[in-house]
Amino acid sequence: MKLIGPFKQIVTLANLPLRGKLSDEQLEIITDGGILIENDTIRKVGNFIALQSENPGLEIETIEGEQIVLPAFVDSHTHICFGGNRANDFAMRNAGKTYLEIAESGGGIWSSVQHTRSASEEELLSTLLERIDFLISLGITTIEVKSGYGLDVENELKMLRIIKKAQEKTKATLVPTCLSAHLKPRDFEGSNQEYLEYIITEILPKVKEENLAGRVDIFIEKSAFQPEESKDFLLKTKALGFEITVHADQFTPGSSRIAVEVGAQSADHLEATIDEDIEFLAQSNTVATALPGASLGLGEKFTPARKLLDAGAILAIASDWNPGSAPMGNLITQASILATFQKLSTAEVIAGITFRSAYALGLTDRGRLENGLKADFVTFKTDNFQNVLYNQGSLNAENVYIDGNKV
Ligand code: NIG
Ligand code: FE
Repeated sequence: MKLIGPFKQIVTLANLPLRGKLSDEQLEIITDGGILIENDTIRKVGNFIALQSENPGLEIETIEGEQIVLPAFVDSHTHICFGGNRANDFAMRNAGKTYLEIAESGGGIWSSVQHTRSASEEELLSTLLERIDFLISLGITTIEVKSGYGLDVENELKMLRIIKKAQEKTKATLVPTCLSAHLKPRDFEGSNQEYLEYIITEILPKVKEENLAGRVDIFIEKSAFQPEESKDFLLKTKALGFEITVHADQFTPGSSRIAVEVGAQSADHLEATIDEDIEFLAQSNTVATALPGASLGLGEKFTPARKLLDAGAILAIASDWNPGSAPMGNLITQASILATFQKLSTAEVIAGITFRSAYALGLTDRGRLENGLKADFVTFKTDNFQNVLYNQGSLNAENVYIDGNKV
């Protein structure tokens, strides 16, 4: 067993509800605390001196200076496996073209598909690992990664195999998701429905066979897939044994309802969600995931996080890091900005990037600092945990621990 500390503050997130609003007074904050670790698991969080005297002969990792600890963050929505760059989309949008107009004219996602298809496996793997390392440096140790820039059997499998290879090379946990239903590729001869059927018959069986992903995502939007065909697709993928997540209500409302109806783990985006559907989400176990990086990237409104929390929804916040709509990748900056625009408490934001976003991925073994959970946490050189969001991402993480070890 190993004891790490003393820390000025340990924010454990113990005993917080999975859903609904939170006030900062509900946070358990242990001052002058220590974390007792056995192998890769937290055994106890408490007063450092008390833990030391209760457990004589412990290995002690002493923390110098004032530091605070939070559970490591979970980014439950990213597209960080991609080739190329879409700086030109950024310029076109700022010159007046909309995201959907760019998509319809063959730019947007399709241009990333072309770059990703033509990139070598080495290049895709090394840029993916660089992005993973950047996220780890922010204190993020669990990262969902989607395919969706391959859009045919060969290239979707290529992406998912690269994500699997990256998992062998990083200590972070990667959660792969098959997003072959990102867009019907321009070179597919057939209807949307035929393309969705192709995913089901040609891509998903191989994904299963090689154990490349346990989750399936779809982009339901005017420029991508329509509500009815999407619902049918999701029910079929569910029957194949996949968990489901949906890109919902980004520009057009209605699809979060489908996510709830099919029992999706999460409905992500929700910038355009109407009040009635906020209630519907709030009464479900489908996590409502805000993606402030996409709002910032596109200059669109933010997800109604305040209303979702007040209604009792499970709110997660993720980066959506991708080359088009959300190129920034800094979840801490994005979540801090979402807090200022949506009037979120620090507790609500931290919950949204820890145990609530973990739940969106079906993970209940992390996201809090409690006995029995994975010893992933992040420290900051400061005397007050509030400074992390207050500084909007410019207070760098001091140390990041995965399975009890500094990385
Ligand atoms: O979550 N909205 C669809 N998919 C991504 C964007 C992907 C892209 O533009 O490359 C998103 O914003
Ligand atoms: Fe996305």
